Amino acid sequence: MSVMKAVRIHSFGGPEVLRLEEIERPEPKIDEILIRVEAASVNPVDWKMREGNYPAVQETDLPYVLGRDVCGTVEKVGDGVAVFRPGDGVYAFLNPMHGGYQQFVIARPEEIAPKPRLMDAVQAAAIPLAGITAWQGLFDHGGLQAGQRVLIHGGAGGVGHLAIQFAKAKGCWVATTVSSVDLDFARSLGADKVIDYKSERFEDAIQPVDVVFDLIAGETQDRSFGVVKTGGILVSTLTEPDKNRATEFGIRATRYTAQPNGPQLAEIGRLIEHGKVGVEIRRVYSLEQASAAQEAIRNEHNRGKIVLRVEH
Ligand SMILES: NC(=O)c1ccc[n+]([C@@H]2O[C@H](COP(=O)([O-])OP(=O)(O)OC[C@H]3O[C@@H](n4cnc5c(N)ncnc54)[C@H](OP(=O)(O)O)[C@@H]3O)[C@@H](O)[C@H]2O)c1
Repeated sequence: MSVMKAVRIHSFGGPEVLRLEEIERPEPKIDEILIRVEAASVNPVDWKMREGNYPAVQETDLPYVLGRDVCGTVEKVGDGVAVFRPGDGVYAFLNPMHGGYQQFVIARPEEIAPKPRLMDAVQAAAIPLAGITAWQGLFDHGGLQAGQRVLIHGGAGGVGHLAIQFAKAKGCWVATTVSSVDLDFARSLGADKVIDYKSERFEDAIQPVDVVFDLIAGETQDRSFGVVKTGGILVSTLTEPDKNRATEFGIRATRYTAQPNGPQLAEIGRLIEHGKVGVEIRRVYSLEQASAAQEAIRNEHNRGKIVLRVEH
């Protein structure tokens, strides 16, 4: 039996429940791919799962490896896999059955795309979950089209800083709300109107938009109904918006959960290859420092992404 290092939880709780352990290295089944992980990103959903507040991970799933996205090299493929071969550089948004905080992880071909050549493993690992969330929120759920106007709340964070770049690459006018320390950062990503959420009211700063992409919820979401054009849409990654209020305002409003999608990841990869999208890495930790990394994303100011580098 070959073994590998993994960070697992055996119970729900605070950062102390994360344990670095040696566990059996998995073998890919017929339609699976084994990835040798070089880097795994850290997302807010990781600590939400760790605390037991995320429906996809239940008591019966423990012990459980956290982490939703990785970059690495294909180590081995099952007999039914034709698209990827050992040695291919890949990145993936994993399904919740498998976690990224480990040296090897199983993925399915439809969750994977070739790693963008312009990025190193740490940069590429930062893209899948945040990038696909931004892509599906703006385009699949928001229906954002070239020439339209979008307001992105939380534009300096992991999802938001990619959403700004995707919307600009599509040819949209982009407004975003960020902290005062991120005003120049958001401008550097191409945002047309940057609003300091602590000192300005976004309702007073912009004309109505076709799409509001809400990465914040709460009062920010409540105040957003009035800035959507009639017939437009409010899309949230967090709480389900009030449908009755949406009807009163003559808009649509929805909440969604991002789903792994290899073809979309490949499309994002092409934007990266063409120099239209970059990633901001806030800090890099080791696998051993996973709990510190989760504390940082939970408690500190977030500009861009936090990533674990996985040594072998
Ligand atoms: N439904 C899904 O499938 C899905 C997928 C991905 C993410 N999410 C959720 O979406 C949210 C965003 O994810 P993320 O990875 O981008 O998080 P993140 O990296 O922590 O970024 C959040 C950003 O929002 C800023 N912010 C906080 N309050 C704000 C406000 N009132 N107005 C504007 N900006 C504000 C933060 O800046 P400060 O630090 O200065 O406050 C930070 O830059 C998280 O809650 C996450 O759990 C859901």
